[in-house]
Amino acid sequence: MAVTSPHSESVPRHVAIVMDGNGRWARKRFMPRGLGHKAGVDALVKVVQASADRGIGYLTVFAFSSENWKRPEEEVSGLMSLLLVALSKHLTKLKADGVRIRIAGDLANVSEKVRNALLDAEAATVGNARLTLTVAFNYGGRWDIVQACQRAIAAGVAADKLDEAALSRHMAMSYAPDPDLFIRTGGEVRLSNFLLWQSAYAELVFTECLWPDFDADELDRALAVYAQRERRFGDVGSSGQGEGGIGHALSASSSGNP
Ligand code: IPE
Ligand code: IPE
Ligand code: MG
Repeated sequence: MAVTSPHSESVPRHVAIVMDGNGRWARKRFMPRGLGHKAGVDALVKVVQASADRGIGYLTVFAFSSENWKRPEEEVSGLMSLLLVALSKHLTKLKADGVRIRIAGDLANVSEKVRNALLDAEAATVGNARLTLTVAFNYGGRWDIVQACQRAIAAGVAADKLDEAALSRHMAMSYAPDPDLFIRTGGEVRLSNFLLWQSAYAELVFTECLWPDFDADELDRALAVYAQRERRFGDVGSSGQGEGGIGHALSASSSGNP
């Protein structure tokens, strides 16, 4: 197993990616969209490895949205088959590399075969801790918030006790810190219903790069952008510290009253 580099502040603990652009990648090559999705799996395998090597603890990827059922039946069934093929091809290596696979999404409405393959992958890698790879499958941010409310109510949480922490405990990815870096490939500048709750303070990076072309160098570019960002979380940040702002200016010009 490769050695994980020590974690540094400028490396995000949790990276979330909307892997978009597979269809356009294929169209540019006069190939069917399905081959774009297949190339997308190859990109993902490399990015998982690169993420682990850089000390990222959590990688969450949008593989199939709750809205993707709207696509032609042929594409949807192709994506389901590709998931099964990808798991059987890559699971052994991912397991050996210390990757823990977790699934976020509504598995009640996927076929038994797909559901079992996803649950088997989770079970097979449960002992791993180097990198947690969450595959968001039949996932939607709104679905996640609604199911968290439902589960909290079912667990007996009273309305006046249903605060942010209580709801977070029932979100699909309650085991992970919130994403620090949210990347979307493929050029679209939107969230498309991914991790709406968890991304409240994620740094957003949008790139024109189509997902099958995304690699370790592209990841490094996104990480470099992230490292330059100042995260303020509503505070004034390092450049504002010590200036005192309006309160300081007012008290300085007053006659000494607080
Ligand atoms: C993202 O690529 C993969 C899935 C949604 C499953 P797309 O299939 O959306 O590719 P484009 O956006 O059409 O290029
Ligand atoms: C988001 O991409 C979903 C995944 C990458 C799985 P879409 O291609 O479905 O998003 P829209 O339709 O462009 O918003
Ligand atoms: Mg798309």
